[in-house]
Amino acid sequence: MKTIILYDSQYGNTKKIAQSLADTDKSIKLFSVDQIKLSDLKNIDLLVVGSPTQAGQATVNLLNFFKTIPSNYLSGIKVAAFDTRMNESTLSFFLKILVKIIGYASPKILKKLVSLGGQPLGESGFLVQSQKGPLCDDEFELALDWFKKILKS
Ligand SMILES: Cc1cc2nc3c(=O)[nH]c(=O)nc-3n(C[C@H](O)[C@H](O)[C@H](O)COP(=O)(O)O)c2cc1C
Repeated sequence: MKTIILYDSQYGNTKKIAQSLADTDKSIKLFSVDQIKLSDLKNIDLLVVGSPTQAGQATVNLLNFFKTIPSNYLSGIKVAAFDTRMNESTLSFFLKILVKIIGYASPKILKKLVSLGGQPLGESGFLVQSQKGPLCDDEFELALDWFKKILKS
């Protein structure tokens, strides 16, 4: 299965998850949003996109890249999305309510990929301890478990 993992990352945490998923199989290609070209999405079977949640959505760079993808370009491609996000238990009462209202990046990324023709396999979020990280304990294992399920579906 030809798989691409595309990510953006401000502080490196999403990149670390993306890298750990890509390291599970030599054939998986890893691209940051600054490197990817539209043609890289040709003739692939699975596209996984990862982003930090920023103001409830994917990064501006990823959103801009999505705008360049022609309609139905992802037709016949399986798609999945993940984000990194704040651990809610570390947030103040008001921030907890705010993040509940504005939501997270991964479901929105998946929706966008589906609107471009992709066939959805799933989405998930992985927790950071604070804005710059590091990732919370166990998040790498959780991400690898999630990815295994995606590959099996
Ligand atoms: C401008 C900005 C906005 C953010 N907004 C949210 C948010 O809405 N919800 C949330 O859970 N975390 C939010 N965060 C925390 C990020 O999700 C966290 O910094 C990110 O997971 C770190 O990933 P990275 O190291 O790949 O950049 C925000 C961070 C920044 C810098």
